[in-house]
Amino acid sequence: MTGRPSSKENCIVLVTGCSSGIGRCVALGLHERGYRVFASVRTQQDKEELSKLGLTVVMMDLTDSDSINSAVEEVLAQTGGRIHVLFNNAAYGQPGAVEDLRRDVIRKQFETNLFGPLELTNRVIPVMRAQGYGRIIQNSSVLGLAAMRFRGAYNSSKFALEGLTDTLRQELVGSGVCVSLIEPGPITSNFRRNAMKAFMANIDHKNSAHAKVYEGVIKRLTKPGPAQPFTLGPEAVLKRVLHAIESGRPRIRYYVTFPTYLFATLRRILSYRALDRILLKASGNENR
Ligand SMILES: NC(=O)c1ccc[n+]([C@@H]2O[C@H](COP(=O)([O-])OP(=O)(O)OC[C@H]3O[C@@H](n4cnc5c(N)ncnc54)[C@H](OP(=O)(O)O)[C@@H]3O)[C@@H](O)[C@H]2O)c1
Repeated sequence: MTGRPSSKENCIVLVTGCSSGIGRCVALGLHERGYRVFASVRTQQDKEELSKLGLTVVMMDLTDSDSINSAVEEVLAQTGGRIHVLFNNAAYGQPGAVEDLRRDVIRKQFETNLFGPLELTNRVIPVMRAQGYGRIIQNSSVLGLAAMRFRGAYNSSKFALEGLTDTLRQELVGSGVCVSLIEPGPITSNFRRNAMKAFMANIDHKNSAHAKVYEGVIKRLTKPGPAQPFTLGPEAVLKRVLHAIESGRPRIRYYVTFPTYLFATLRRILSYRALDRILLKASGNENR
């Protein structure tokens, strides 16, 4: 059967990065609403846990082409060759000043946040083209719109995702496949915990010119509870994902949280220098 799925039960959604945070909330939220969800994780333990909650779970590591391929094959085998929605959610943040980023460290950031999602998307597009219908939803970030200190690896991966997605959207005009970007600001999840792990593993922080400021970075990443004002729960992203799936005219960009609306607006109206001053102040405050 081709075209728009006739019901939620027939609407097949693949969500990446469902072990925690936004992916987990979106996968469970769509499942509860009756969608046929395939949730991807990386460990057997996460698979078992999510399976107990009623989700169909596939293993996928975005840094591994074979893993991407076999996950897609597994979904297609169970769905008669159909995937209607792809939510490219999985990613992590590699903190650290640009001058402290080794080549292998930023490469790994791009493998997970850009090259993996690109490969997965390109694997799914022919399926969607054949259906004459599809929704590709990219989880970007406010940091895909505005750059902040000590987030260069993550910023550049999300800026690249934005550029790639803007191009892809134009190339898919007329195919029945719509592409949307979601740009959340601070959302409750394991993001900071995972960023802290990446920071400690990959940044020689004690020997850096930024050693002193890094103490503030570590404090921010390990602070219990929301680290930033205006933090929302992952349900705020679920709401936008639902719109991107259910609307007859999904938006190109969905802003989530006040900081995204603010920086998207400031970026339009301020000079580069004035915007830098505000962004510097924002990162200065939070790294103290
Ligand atoms: N939280 C925020 O404030 C915020 C703001 C803006 C945008 N975002 C975006 O939201 C998305 C979800 O992040 P989150 O906040 O929910 O963080 P999270 O709780 O850390 O979840 C990240 C998910 O990505 C998975 N993942 C990491 N590396 C992977 C890989 N190589 N292959 C497959 N899966 C991988 C993780 O799996 P493991 O458990 O196996 O590591 C986890 O399931 C990301 O794209 C992030 O950039 C988050």
